[in-house]
Amino acid sequence: MRFDEISIPIKKELTELDLELKVIAAKLDYTTTENIFTYFFSIPGKKLRPTLTFLSAGAINNELTPSIKDKLVKLAAGLELIHSASLIHDDIIDGDLMRRGQKTLNKAFGNKIAVLAGDALYSRAFTIFSDVLPREFSQAIGRVTESMCIAEILNANNASPDRETYFKIIEGKTAAFMSACCRLGSLIVGASEEESNMLSKYGENLGMAYQILDDYIDEDSTAMKTVTIEEGFQFASAAKSSIDNLKDTVYKKNLIILVDYVLDFYNPKTVNAL
Ligand code: IPE
Ligand code: MG
Repeated sequence: MRFDEISIPIKKELTELDLELKVIAAKLDYTTTENIFTYFFSIPGKKLRPTLTFLSAGAINNELTPSIKDKLVKLAAGLELIHSASLIHDDIIDGDLMRRGQKTLNKAFGNKIAVLAGDALYSRAFTIFSDVLPREFSQAIGRVTESMCIAEILNANNASPDRETYFKIIEGKTAAFMSACCRLGSLIVGASEEESNMLSKYGENLGMAYQILDDYIDEDSTAMKTVTIEEGFQFASAAKSSIDNLKDTVYKKNLIILVDYVLDFYNPKTVNAL
């Protein structure tokens, strides 16, 4: 199963998202002397987080008014901007020179520009949230962004974290955000508390599995000392069971397939790339 097959039912939303991101990048670049933002978005990522948002929304309600549809795309755009900003800053912190097959912003434009470009993307995301989304969404996203930054600090300050700290780091930097993508996607289309909790748990477990597998693929020595790959697989199966009680739809089905797709990362025979 390829990633683009998982996104067939949300093709339209993803296309609208791409358009939204292009417009945002072009507007930001209009005020700079170089096309920094267009450069960054010219090689898109997997759009995993918007995919989580759109599939979670679809799993709850797939007959949306134009106004809710618009809010959903804006929500996904804000989340992808936050993800992008965190990657840009992460590459500076790690001194990484390549991402998605092209030079990182720190390599292409220097650290100063990259720090500020990340800040601009965070700021734009928060503007979108406060402009078009309910207040609780801004609060939730503020908390989750803060926890990503705190997790990065913990990471930077712990060359070899113990098990408890390792779990705190991956929870904060990956799982909390994926969980929020699912929760907010479901809430914007009217999920009940029970439904949004199930999707939130799904995102949380998926995020834990994702990060453990990602660390194993990178042969991260801390992860390999602290956690077993089987524990990564356990989080993946917990992700699936988290949404057992959601009604059966193609969106739910694809959320389940998405877990297998992530598990496939670890299968050396597959071509999927993180
Ligand atoms: C990378 O996320 C950062 C982690 C949380 C491991 P992705 O692998 O989803 O990044 P892109 O957006 O597809 O490049
Ligand atoms: Mg990656």
